[in-house]
Amino acid sequence: MSNEHGNLIKSPKQLIIMVFASFFVPLIIILLLMIFVNNGKRGDASTTTEQLIKPVGQLNFKDASGPREMQTGEQVYKAVCAACHATGAAGAPKFGDTSAWSARLGKGYDGLMTSVLKGKGAMPARGGSNPADISDYELGRAVVYLANSAGGKLAEPSAPAAK
Ligand code: HEC
Repeated sequence: MSNEHGNLIKSPKQLIIMVFASFFVPLIIILLLMIFVNNGKRGDASTTTEQLIKPVGQLNFKDASGPREMQTGEQVYKAVCAACHATGAAGAPKFGDTSAWSARLGKGYDGLMTSVLKGKGAMPARGGSNPADISDYELGRAVVYLANSAGGKLAEPSAPAAK
């Protein structure tokens, strides 16, 4: 420890202080930054830090092996069946059209379900949907939703047993 080079550190005591300062000052700055970021998260409910930094396009990958949520009849109807049954395209009995459905309802759930599973006239099998996307159970719920819109009194199919 000499004064020759004009060092800031002139005594062992100063050396210790410098070592501590160079260690703790950045640490305190980091801690303050963390508190600052967390405050931002809690502070404004409308725009959280998470929302600000999340990527623009969020991909929602489905885990094919995991259990997935069953779609309701309405969801399946809107996704698949409405293409024809909302407008009556290709001669499809329209949603909510009691006169178009009255004769068909006599077939009961099983009869209608068979038509949907196998296809009938201009309607492709399963309404054109893929069994990997829409299970028999979900298809059944759509049949009930559609039939009951037009005076049917079909009961919801029972859910398949959990695997
Ligand atoms: C490509 C158009 C199209 C799509 C998509 C479609 N349908 Fe149909 N559907 C028809 C047509 C056309 C008929 C009338 C068939 C006939 O009687 O010749 C029909 C008839 C039916 C019937 C009556 C069957 C019978 O035996 O009288 C049911 C029930 C039905 N559709 C349910 C569905 C459901 C549920 C979906 C969706 C999962 C669906 N359809 C999707 C065109 C379609």
